[in-house]
Amino acid sequence: MFIQQLIEISKEHINQTIEVIAMVTDMKVKLTKSDKKYIDLIIQDASKRIDAKCWEYEEKETFFKELNANQAVKIKGVVGEYQGILQLTIKDIEGVKESEIDIRALIPTSDWEIESMKKGLQYFYDKVKTPHLKELLDKMIFTTHHYEKFCSYPAARQVHHNFYHGLLQHVLEVLKYAYTVATTKKLSQRQLERLIVMSFLHDWAKIMEYKQLPETGFTEEGTMLGHIFMGAHMTLNYINEIENFDSEDKLIVLNGILGHHGKLEYGSPVLPKTVEAQILHHADIMSGDIESIQSFMKEEEGKEDTFTNKLWNMGTEYYKKG
Ligand SMILES: [Fe+2]
Ligand SMILES: [Fe+2]
Repeated sequence: MFIQQLIEISKEHINQTIEVIAMVTDMKVKLTKSDKKYIDLIIQDASKRIDAKCWEYEEKETFFKELNANQAVKIKGVVGEYQGILQLTIKDIEGVKESEIDIRALIPTSDWEIESMKKGLQYFYDKVKTPHLKELLDKMIFTTHHYEKFCSYPAARQVHHNFYHGLLQHVLEVLKYAYTVATTKKLSQRQLERLIVMSFLHDWAKIMEYKQLPETGFTEEGTMLGHIFMGAHMTLNYINEIENFDSEDKLIVLNGILGHHGKLEYGSPVLPKTVEAQILHHADIMSGDIESIQSFMKEEEGKEDTFTNKLWNMGTEYYKKG
């Protein structure tokens, strides 16, 4: 049976043989208890990502040795379940030429409309009136080569906003949540502008930390330096290019970027030291958590259970009715 999209695979397919076209995103050769090699793949399309295993690794070794991550494959496999999660046992696997398929069908994409997201960015940019803060956004976001990446990169590798336009959607969510708190709590115009700027820039360096889709994973500098340091470092470089950049704004914006993970154990080298930075941190957490719950629930839609499996980053399962 040919399956159009991975999301269609359900418990009803258990023990059935299906065929599907997907992209390999990760692969690891492992050993069974009896020292036999097998391969663990993660495959995905625009709808979902699932695990697939091939126990006959040795018979297909030449194929697997030439297989690269981000390559499209056609798989014939048997649907199974492991710890409540559906997976595939591969019986047959072959490469698919990129010319034969639309690669975008295999990459998850934001379901928000791209042009309205871009208008959203403009809406918040227009609220910044202070010339040096505006100039910083011009340099870091609204120049063509940055803008294209900023609008297409994912915001995460796993869990939340890990799709085409993910960074754009995440930043827009953060801007909206942060703006709501800022206006509810009557922040001053200058505080509001700083909050907008740090929201725009907090994850900016993800365009350096991650590889460009369809490739996934970290770049070398991303692995070595991370987006928090790189974001602050690049922001400081651009600030130094701007004449008479206010020194207090500089400290506050940089602290917002460095502190946005909110805790030292979450990778921030300093804690948020202003109300703006604290709002940014909460807006960031809110955007990531809600997105991860919603996308997880969507993935688990096909299952009949009352609750989802445990969502590891939240440490709990979610109620599916209602
Ligand atoms: Fe971040
Ligand atoms: Fe973020």
